[in-house]
Amino acid sequence: MSRTFYVTTPIYYVNDVPHIGHAYTTLAADVLTRYKRLMGHEVFFLTGTDEHGQKVEKAANAAGETPLELADRVMKRFQALWEKLDISYSDFIRTTQERHKRGVSHIFSKIMEQGDIYLGEYEDWYCTPCETFWTETQVIDNKCPDCNRPVEKLKEESYFFRMSKYQEALLAHIEANPDFIQPKSKRNEIVSFVKEGLRDLSVSRTSFTWGIPVPGNEKHVIYVWFDALTNYITALGYPDEAGDFARFWPADVHLIGKDILRFHAVYWPTFLMAAGLPLPKKVFAHGWWTVEGQKMSKSLQNVVEPNMLIDRYGVDAVRYFLLREVPFGLDGDFSHAALVHRINSDLANDLGNLLNRSTAMINKYFDGLVQTPEELTETDSAYRAKTEEMVRQVEAFMEELAFSKALQAIWEVVSAGNKYIDETAPWTLAKDPSQKGRLATVMYCLLESQRLVYFLLSAFMPRTAAKGLAYLGWEGAPAADGLSWGMLREGTRITKAEPLFPRIEDKIE
Ligand code: MSP
Repeated sequence: MSRTFYVTTPIYYVNDVPHIGHAYTTLAADVLTRYKRLMGHEVFFLTGTDEHGQKVEKAANAAGETPLELADRVMKRFQALWEKLDISYSDFIRTTQERHKRGVSHIFSKIMEQGDIYLGEYEDWYCTPCETFWTETQVIDNKCPDCNRPVEKLKEESYFFRMSKYQEALLAHIEANPDFIQPKSKRNEIVSFVKEGLRDLSVSRTSFTWGIPVPGNEKHVIYVWFDALTNYITALGYPDEAGDFARFWPADVHLIGKDILRFHAVYWPTFLMAAGLPLPKKVFAHGWWTVEGQKMSKSLQNVVEPNMLIDRYGVDAVRYFLLREVPFGLDGDFSHAALVHRINSDLANDLGNLLNRSTAMINKYFDGLVQTPEELTETDSAYRAKTEEMVRQVEAFMEELAFSKALQAIWEVVSAGNKYIDETAPWTLAKDPSQKGRLATVMYCLLESQRLVYFLLSAFMPRTAAKGLAYLGWEGAPAADGLSWGMLREGTRITKAEPLFPRIEDKIE
């Protein structure tokens, strides 16, 4: 019986077109998904678009479209990018879909019926870009404390969610589940925030209409974050609690950026508690990308467009760079120079050269046919042990979502391979007919180690892994039962590899 795994990305607002910040979360979710699938899990990977709310309504007005026209247009751009980035999602949810609206109305009514949503009056500040309410004491000079843009005073009738009631239960949950919020520094921030006291939360609006109506009071639309967060269960068929919901909920991990942690680690769990539903197992907040040292923004015209990067450098180079360059959970800086450096040194030089050298040698010495190895020497055994250790390390690092460490562990074996060639000097062995068996063994170790490298790389760089494995004569998709040493068979035909990643020589502006 296969184990299930449920991973989600945030659903992206449709008032903006996709940039590397969005691509980053989705890519991380994809790599985790592919890795878990490799290890034999049945994975449900959810992404989608957040299409309601004032921000989207305003953007649509500005573009002279209806909100739905805007959403239809922009969500296609997200889907096209995910295709180009080889994102293997299981489902794409749009908050304007019937299945979603039905689930949101249901959970809202359920919480209202049991007394945790009540009608009141609201007088506070609202930041539309963040879709967030602030109190008098939180705003600074009429500006949003998060994004520093102007806030508006709102006074309206509103439904409130009794979030205050769940303060202690939430703290107890965070306490009892040390891995619930990650990384740790972020967990501490949330704990302090909750300890300062949770106020009841306004969960409806009357000043605009683009949203899901409050059941029984159509003057109100449901607060966009209440609507959006619920996507994680409506995509599983909620309120139907059989089927996918029973199989996959609670989520194994919600992957998000650090700016939306409070919504996921405070609001969402308390909504679920009120609805009597289990909480997600983990919320992981990653850091933010700056670009050449600066905050990415439309006004600075420095928004990095993933389509352009992929066209220029190739999809797997971009996938590799984003997850290798910065430890997941920390902020990072994007620069073309750093990307080109990674391509030339890690991909062209280390990974590509190793494959070229090995596949060329076996063709030269054994007509491309894998031979049965003799007994391993100490050097061979050390190389084999390092390869086997890599499989275990990657497993442990992926458990922590330490993508860059997992890639480092793989690259240690790639480097060890290049060193192994230098040490064993196959060209010298080839000159001595009595060393034929020894030469065959060296070739075997080199190819078998790389087979395991490409098995693991299939999560990160699916196309490169498929190419590498094709050169290595491996038929079929990589799977967990092929993750042990010694499965490359005698007689397998190895093809001389073309460079996987040509060096990039051009000067980058
Ligand atoms: N719609 C909400 C999420 C609702 S989830 C129930 C939203 N959408 S968003 O489109 O504005 O942002 C989506 C994600 O992109 C967030 O996780 C955010 O952290 C991420 N990023 C946006 N800019 C980013 C960077 N510059 N760097 C890294 N991630 C960034 O918020």
